[in-house]
Amino acid sequence: MPKALIVYATRTGQTQNIAELIAEGIRFAGAEAKAINVNQVKKQEDLEGYDAYVFGSATYHGEMLQGMKQMLFLAEKLGLKGKPGGAFGAFGWSGEAPDRIYDTMKNIFEMDLVPSALRLKSASLQGGMQMAQDYGRQIGKKLMGE
Ligand SMILES: Cc1cc2nc3c(=O)[nH]c(=O)nc-3n(C[C@H](O)[C@H](O)[C@H](O)COP(=O)(O)O)c2cc1C
Repeated sequence: MPKALIVYATRTGQTQNIAELIAEGIRFAGAEAKAINVNQVKKQEDLEGYDAYVFGSATYHGEMLQGMKQMLFLAEKLGLKGKPGGAFGAFGWSGEAPDRIYDTMKNIFEMDLVPSALRLKSASLQGGMQMAQDYGRQIGKKLMGE
């Protein structure tokens, strides 16, 4: 069964909630999904062996969290060209991080991404839960070749 890895960077847990809902959506589409905190990624091998990648960070001071920046340098070495994926994150008002991550995955890694990044104020507000699951389902469908 194809497998997706979701890596999230969070300070207060909102981005983790979104990551877990995206994982559920991917499973609804029939693929496997694992969500891990960026702090668990120590070396390139920790990222290897998946068929799709979804990266997310909360926005603080207009930026993604430091751990996600470092993880993207590791991911650069994986050779992700053509693999399905997406980017996401919780935000308060400006929400730069998901778009920055998305742009890196698209322009540098040359991945086959869903059409845009997912930005949510919270997974529990304004249909956020549904949106996060749907985002996962879209990635899952790409992964299943649908
Ligand atoms: C000190 C601080 C700075 C923040 N800076 C931004 C920001 O520049 N832009 C933005 O959209 N949200 C900003 N936020 C809001 C967070 O992105 C928001 O609370 C988000 O839900 C946190 O996600 P997390 O629980 O995954 O860490 C900031 C929050 C704090 C506490």
